[in-house]
Amino acid sequence: VGLIDDVQELKKNRKTKIPNRFVRDVAERPAVATIQSPLSTSIPVIDLSKLMKGNKEDFHFEIMKLSASCDEWGFFQVINHGIDLDLLKKIEKVAMEFFMLPVEEKQKYPMAPGTVQGYGQAFVFSEDQKLDWCNMFALGLVPHSIRNPKLWPTNPPTFSDTIETYSREIRKLCKDLLRFIALSLGLRGNVFEDMFGESVQAMRMNYYPACPRPDLVLGLSPHSDGSALTVLQQGKGSTVGLQILKNNTWVPIQPVTNALVINIGDTIEVLTNGRYKSSEHRAVTNKEKDRLSIVTFYAPSYEIEIGPMPEMVDENNPSKYRRYNHGEYSRHYVTNKLQGKKTLDFAK
Ligand code: SIN
Ligand code: FE2
Repeated sequence: VGLIDDVQELKKNRKTKIPNRFVRDVAERPAVATIQSPLSTSIPVIDLSKLMKGNKEDFHFEIMKLSASCDEWGFFQVINHGIDLDLLKKIEKVAMEFFMLPVEEKQKYPMAPGTVQGYGQAFVFSEDQKLDWCNMFALGLVPHSIRNPKLWPTNPPTFSDTIETYSREIRKLCKDLLRFIALSLGLRGNVFEDMFGESVQAMRMNYYPACPRPDLVLGLSPHSDGSALTVLQQGKGSTVGLQILKNNTWVPIQPVTNALVINIGDTIEVLTNGRYKSSEHRAVTNKEKDRLSIVTFYAPSYEIEIGPMPEMVDENNPSKYRRYNHGEYSRHYVTNKLQGKKTLDFAK
């Protein structure tokens, strides 16, 4: 992806003509009605404080809500998540400062094809592939061996420190959430953590500039996440942008202030033998407003073998997926274009 395809630069240099590379085939275009739908839905909200320190009744009620959200949506939001709201603000601030740097500065950290680290557009493999109306900046975080120090920006000066603090906090949250997800399935709380080894954690910031023709483009192509769990922070005052495919309809998701959006990734779908599914989702753009999302992916260590857990398989629920190495799945995921849930065919 060259300079010419950097959406922020396009915005500076052109008026309303959308380059062909971004114009989706008719069947892929977002319906005008869903782009800024006043009917956008709020996905179920889980109060984490009730799971962490609630009384028995509150805990039970919240666990029931959690299992219903995972069954019906593959998505939920958490409030009272215990992460300092100033830290959420700070990560947004530095991320925005980074995206607002001159393009030459950002391109000092170029994303190499077939990787999701650095600045650019991930998942692009051919000249005729349509591009997303989005600039991305991504980093591998844990284990340290996946880091590429050359891709860690020194500008803004507090960027790296903020990312370190943020990723430590989000890691704790992921561990807690996996415990509650296990409990919501009637499994032992530690079942995922015991299996995962030193979990892989990576981060991607998505910046969607306002687009003069949101009806023609997509901010982010439809996909399910290749992680076990994903934590999504939407910029404060963000417009509606995230859409989830539910019953064959793209449902726009209303951001909730200070909440974090959590979604089930492919790994949990496989481990639970399809009980908790990774939902297909995408992002659309907005005519007036830009949008920022900050996404953390939490997944098993690359050495780990993944397959349906024995507890989730019986004669009524025969195994739907094969066993495979998670590192291979990860590689498969980052070397293919985003295309709905097609990446999960790897596990079949
Ligand atoms: C993502 O799926 O990675 C991001 C979606 C969003 O920007 O809301
Ligand atoms: Fe995603």
